[in-house]
Order: sequence, then C-alpha cells, then structure tokens
Amino acid sequence: MGILAADETVSTITKRLTARAIASTADSRRAYRELLFTTPGIAEFIGGVILQDETIHQDSVAGTPLVELLADRGIIPGIKVDAGVRPLAGAPGESVTEGLDGLRERLAEYRELGARFAKWRAVFVIRAGLPSATCIHANAHALARYAALCQEQGLVPIVEPEVLMDGAHALERCEDVTGRVLQAVFNELFAARVSLEGMLLKPNMVTAGQGFARQAPVREVAEATLRVLTRHVPPAVPGVVFLSGGQDAVLATTHLNAINALEGPKPWKLSFSFGRALQDEALEAWRGRSEQVPAAQRAFHHRAWCDSAAVLGAYTA
Ligand code: 13P
Repeated sequence: MGILAADETVSTITKRLTARAIASTADSRRAYRELLFTTPGIAEFIGGVILQDETIHQDSVAGTPLVELLADRGIIPGIKVDAGVRPLAGAPGESVTEGLDGLRERLAEYRELGARFAKWRAVFVIRAGLPSATCIHANAHALARYAALCQEQGLVPIVEPEVLMDGAHALERCEDVTGRVLQAVFNELFAARVSLEGMLLKPNMVTAGQGFARQAPVREVAEATLRVLTRHVPPAVPGVVFLSGGQDAVLATTHLNAINALEGPKPWKLSFSFGRALQDEALEAWRGRSEQVPAAQRAFHHRAWCDSAAVLGAYTA
C-alpha cells in the first residue's frame, strides 16, 4: 500500500500530456485523473492520492467531486500546498520553495474540501559546492513551518526534501548531501515542535546522478538509502514514502523492493509516493483515447500492485 502523487501542476501535467500529443484542457486533465482514481481494485494498493488545486475542485464526468470519488473507495485525499520553487536570493543556481503566506487559511479551506494530508516539496541540486548551507537552511526552515501549520489545522504533513538526480555525481555524493539535508530538516522540525509521530517523510532514494558514468547496482542503492535513513531519520516517524524522481517504473519498484528486503532494523514503514513511476505506463497506454482507458487502468493497476509487493520485499520482476 502506498500513495499516488497526482499533484502535478497544470504546467507540469501539460508538458506530460503534450509530450504524448494529448491536448491539455481542464477536461482532459480531469479525464486522466478520473481514469486513475476509478481504476478497478486500485484501493488495494493505493491508500492516498495527492491532488493539486485544480483537481480538488473538479467533478467527475458524472458530476461527483473527485475527492468524493476517492473517499468512496476508501482512498484518503491529500493536497499539494506549496506554491512552487523560485530562485533563492543570494544563492546562484539554487531555489527556495514558496507558499507560506496565507497557508493557514488555505489549509483550512482544503480540509473543508476533504483533504486529510498535505505535501510541500523542497528541491536541492548537486553541483560543485552545492547545495549551499543557505539553501539547505532556507528550505528546511520552510518545510518545518509548513509542517507545524498542517498539524495545527488537522492535516498530516508530508515533508518532501528532494535531492535531484540530475548531475554527474557519484552515489557517495548523493548519500552525503541527502544526509545533510535530512539532518537539517529534522533539526528544523524539532525546533518548530512538529510531532514526528504525525508526519510522513518523502525523500529521494540515494542514487548516482543521471549523468554519472556508472549507475550503482540495486543493492548499493538500497544499502546507501537505508544507511542514510538510519543515520538521520528518527524512529518516531511512522512512514517514509519515497519519490521516484525520474527513475523508470521498473527500476523504482526494484529499488524499493531491495530496500525492504535488506536485513536489519527498519523502524519506519518504507513505502512509495511515486508520481511518474506510477503513472508513466498508464499515460503511455491511454494517449488521450477513451477506448484505451481499460488498457491504461490495467497498466496502472499492475504497477501499483508491483510497488505494493515491493513494500513487503516480495516483488519479482
Ligand atoms: P515523482 O515520483 O515523479 O518524482 O513525483 C513525486 C512527487 O510528488 C514530486 O513532488
């Protein structure tokens, strides 16, 4: 069981749709999300869905709010509440996630609309000398203020610090940066009095950069990922739900499975909150054609089933 990240902004989902020659309109975006949410049997593998502002206000083709469609299936609706990344002043090449202004009121509105958890994504790039201490601090602080506000408003925060996969760095460098970022995030969560028992962490897995010559074997990724979590994530956190970050669907499943199959203490539930790795095969199958909906739903169901098996360390390709 895991979480489907279907919270692409209108501009991001538009890129994914137009890349497959599908026109991006409010109605095609609704049709695509409805296809995913109404996949027969999907509630067995997907316990929560992260929506974004447009989708949380949309109704199905039959007139049922999409939020209700999810809740009726026993799937918990969540909502992306950050306002996206902007260049961070004083830190060339780096960004800070904005959206704290008016957040308390927006959280209350989203709760009213049916959301029970929220998500905020911070982004860190690996380059020579980056991420800077300034960038790590600014983003960790914002994540903690967001998480505290969520808990005040009765929403479970998903705290997402993403160290990006692009770059030509080795796995060891990703491990070092991910560790420093997680440490800073938990320091700020502690300072902001966030209840660790009432949050989820959404981190990247530890991999080599996509431009690095040698991609690490699956076992190395799994070991480095578990090591960094063990060092920097308190056991009070109930769940760690990985992002996929541009890994293809099968590799993301394989990595998650390998992490869960490792020996040794794993005090948190280690699951998934994938976006692309859960959706790519379905989107490819759909291509905007109504007659392809069953094929797209089968592809989505299959991947969600594989990822749920990987949570148990029981996935076989
Ligand atoms: P990916 O799994 O495609 O990285 O998306 C997860 C997500 O929610 C990014 O914010």
